[in-house]
Formats: sequence, structure tokens, C-alpha cells
Amino acid sequence: MRVYLDNAATTAMDDRVIEAMIPFMKEHYGNPSSVHSHGREVRTAIERSRKKVAELLNATPAEIFFTSGGTEADNTALVCGLQSHGIKHAISSPIEHHAVLSTLQNCAKKGMTELSLLNVSGKGELDLDQLKQLLEKHPNSLVSVMHANNEIGNLNDIETIGALAKEYGAFFHSDTVQTMGHYVHDVKKMDIDALVGSAHKFHGPKGSGFAFVRKDKKISPFIYGGGQERNMRGGTENVCGIVGIAKALELAYEDMSGHQRHIELLKSRMIGQLKQAIPGVEFNGLSADLDQSLYTVLNVSLPPSEENSGMLLFNLDLHGISASGGSACSSGATVGSHVLRALNAQPGRDSVRFSFSRYNTAEEIDYTVEKLKEMYAVGV
Ligand SMILES: Cc1ncc(COP(=O)(O)O)c(C=O)c1O
Repeated sequence: MRVYLDNAATTAMDDRVIEAMIPFMKEHYGNPSSVHSHGREVRTAIERSRKKVAELLNATPAEIFFTSGGTEADNTALVCGLQSHGIKHAISSPIEHHAVLSTLQNCAKKGMTELSLLNVSGKGELDLDQLKQLLEKHPNSLVSVMHANNEIGNLNDIETIGALAKEYGAFFHSDTVQTMGHYVHDVKKMDIDALVGSAHKFHGPKGSGFAFVRKDKKISPFIYGGGQERNMRGGTENVCGIVGIAKALELAYEDMSGHQRHIELLKSRMIGQLKQAIPGVEFNGLSADLDQSLYTVLNVSLPPSEENSGMLLFNLDLHGISASGGSACSSGATVGSHVLRALNAQPGRDSVRFSFSRYNTAEEIDYTVEKLKEMYAVGV
């Protein structure tokens, strides 16, 4: 049996997305910047996709910029957010994805900004009192806090953070890569200046993303070139990727609560079975708390075991199970997880992140827990 439980890394494409993209690799090959009919029909498809994404987010088409993925969208919002608004102080957290953390650290290294990182608890909760104090001291900062953590699944209270940012005149960006397509984002109801999406996290193509930037918080371009994307991102558009992301997001919104129910049941099933099967099993961050974590992510901390130490993912792979990990340790070949390190995870334990999608089944969960039980030789 082969089981794919690494959906926070990437997801399988939906056949309906592939079907929507194929014509733009075959018959509709014009350059969207060309004014002839071959170009115009492709331009129309891009603008239709932009309108669709904007509609789903309750944004206007002019606020949506297509990019090469989540990383570029985050980089654009952060670097250009700082530069365009003359911001000299940024606030973020040590458990952000590297698309945000490395970008801000690099901006700080170049002297563009000062960077303050929020304290996190052992469960990955951010210190919002500290955020308030920092904003009191440095109003008009840039605040970047992810909506949900990709490793431990913690959902951050972006309503409260957004309201605080607004109160102090800060520019608020949230890395929404892990929640886009899994939760409804209504930008008219959110105090947010920039958020992002990446198609391959919701059954769309890799290398296709977008940034939403609120129209009254305009930023300068990140990539200069031929004036594409309303001068915001030079370069001939990834047309089939753009068609793909709009279709994937549309499908994600079509039955979002149905998918959520299905995946939540799988997650609860796994939590329940693991607690029964493996004495001493723990869950990193808030991932076992269904109300406070992303329903697609469960980060499991396993009791120390000589046979599996450092080999957990490899052993799972031998059984056909794909998941991803991150130990807290930083020695040896693997750098380890900066997130688990920030949480001070116990170094003797191995951690594995299982992440689910609408395509996973209860049988796959049962098989995975059975194999883990064998690996940890419980009752054998
Ligand atoms: C939270 C988060 N931000 C950003 C990214 C980067 O997205 P992309 O792979 O589209 O560049 C990822 C992907 O793993 C992610 O999980």
C-alpha cells in the first residue's frame, strides 16, 4: 500500500484543474501581451482567472497579482511593503516559514529594517502582549504573522493581530499559504493588507501563486520587466498556472465544509488511534486541538526508541507511507526543524508531520497507525 500523508508539502492535482489547463498548453498558446487574436484570447483567460480569485476572496481584480508561488508572493509583499511605505521596523515570529523568516532576516541584514521576533510558548503560541508593546514602541511597523503554521498546524488569531496592526498604523501581511483553499478568506472583513496563496497546496499546479495587496496600501514592483501584471511583475505570464490556480481555488471553495468534515474525521481518527496504540505519544504545538489547529496537519511526537531514532521517516517510507518530519536536533546531516527548536521540543523524541487532503481515506489512516504500532513494537 502507498499512502500519501504529506499534503502540507504539496497536494495531488485535481483532474478538473488539469483539464482546465490543457487548452493553454495546446491550442491557446499566444502571448497574452500580443494584441492579435491569439494573444487576446489568452489575455482574456488571465483576466477571467484574476476576477475569479478576486471574487472568492471578496477583493477587487486590481488587488490580485499572480506570482510563481507562495515564496515569491511573500517576498513581494514583505520587501516591497517595507520599501514602498518607508517602514523601518518589522515584527514577525521565529516559527514562520523560511519564505518569510529568511526574507525579513535578509532585509534586516541589509539594513533595510530592524526585526523583532515574538516570543513563542512551548505549544507555539505567540506572545500578543509583546506584539502590543512592540507596536506601542514602533507604530507603523510591518507585521508578518502566518495564518497557520505549516509544521505544527497552529492557527494564529489573525483577527486580533490585524486589529492591533490597524490600531497602530502597521502594514499587516499574513502568510496564508497553508489556509488558502482550506478556509474562507474575506478580505473585506479582515484587517489585512497583504495575503498570499500557492496553488499546489490546494490541488493546483506547482509554481503558481498570487498575492493580494489592499488597494490603499499599494506597493512598488518586485520584478521589473515588460509591464505585465499591471506593471507589478515583469515577465510573460505562466498562463496555464494562472488558469490552474483559479480553477483549483474555485473547486476548493465549492465544497470547502464537506472537505473539512472529511479531513477532520481522518485527523480525529488518527489522534484517537495513536493515543490507544502508542503509550507516551504526544502531539507538537496545538495540532491535536481541532479548534486551534489547521485540520490538515497533525504533528506527532513519538517516545524515544532505539530502532527508530533518526530513522522514523525512512522506516515509514519503507512501508510506503510518505510523511515529513523535522527533528529538533541540528547536528548531523539534517538541519532539523527551526519550528520544533523554537518550541524547545525534547531532543530524544522523533517527530513526524502527517498532513491530509480530501483524497485520503480512513483505511490509509488505519494502515499508518498499524505500521507505527509495529515500529514501536507495542504489544508485539
Ligand atoms: C507557510 C508556507 N509559506 C510559504 C510556502 C512557500 O510556498 P511555495 O512552495 O509556493 O513557494 C509554503 C510551502 O511549503 C508554506 O507552507
